[in-house]
Amino acid sequence: MPTGRKAKGTAPGKIILFGEHAVVYGRPAIAAPMSQVRATAIVQESNHPGIRLIAPDLKQDIMLHETDKNDPIAAVLEQVRLAANLERLPSLTVTVTSQIPIASGLGSGAAITAAVIRAVAQFMGLEALLPDQIVSDLTYEVEKLHHGTPSGIDNTVVSYERPIYFVRQQPQNRIEPFAVAQPLTFLVADTGMRSHTKIVVGDVRQQWEADPTMFEHLFAGCGRLAKEARAAIEQGDGPQIGALMVENHALLQQMTVSSPELDYLVDEALQAGALGAKLSGAGRGGNMIALVLPEMKTAVSNALHHAGAKSILTTTLPATQ
Ligand code: PMV
Repeated sequence: MPTGRKAKGTAPGKIILFGEHAVVYGRPAIAAPMSQVRATAIVQESNHPGIRLIAPDLKQDIMLHETDKNDPIAAVLEQVRLAANLERLPSLTVTVTSQIPIASGLGSGAAITAAVIRAVAQFMGLEALLPDQIVSDLTYEVEKLHHGTPSGIDNTVVSYERPIYFVRQQPQNRIEPFAVAQPLTFLVADTGMRSHTKIVVGDVRQQWEADPTMFEHLFAGCGRLAKEARAAIEQGDGPQIGALMVENHALLQQMTVSSPELDYLVDEALQAGALGAKLSGAGRGGNMIALVLPEMKTAVSNALHHAGAKSILTTTLPATQ
């Protein structure tokens, strides 16, 4: 049974504005948090021996020692244990909930991981694990177990919870917050098709191995767009940001990571007056994003709805001071 003491950790969803896939190959990318959809973990003291994992959304209530070796929360707890240099964690109840749709390119896995790390670290007084950079690094370790070769952008943006310009590089990733001159409103529309990051990223790798010249060319194009987009965001040039999104979507189509459903939502959003639109995340399903002026928001949202979007969320990047 859980008893009195408890701690809470949360982390937001995310969208990739520019540069997905190419970011895995060291090209710049831009991502932003979606703070209104969050993963939350609550850790409570337990007077029963062992660690109990509750995920009401998944109808899961299981003891840690009963989980299989791929259980994602078990993997997070193991990372925390290793990072804290502990032989074992104390008896706990960990309850995880999330408003972030899973397998849809919104970073739900990374957000759940970051939320659990924060809650457990808070609960156990592990101050050294609480800085955003450490939460991000530990989340990355867990992402590697699930995704093979994650770029590190998901764990970074959900841990820092701010828009970032990101370059995967050694010995340290380049993680740069940047200025947003004008608020930017994005509609985030779900195709309703699941997107499996590991499979899509693996497939892009196979294609890159088969035709490195063409794929390096596509990746370089995405990197150039991300750089230009950063400048456009810093200058508040909405039409330019939108045009760059359309170009980025075309490159993602050439990488074969779009889908008829994503293309249809992108086309309909543009027809209805969005400044730009593209898929976001791994692709082949999941979500697309459309940049809209406030006065076009309703028209584009209606168009996406009619085009079959299963859910439409709005997220705004506020202007920085
Ligand atoms: O996890 P998703 O579906 O949001 O996609 C992650 C973005 C990729 O660039 C495709 C992979 C990565 O690790 O950066």
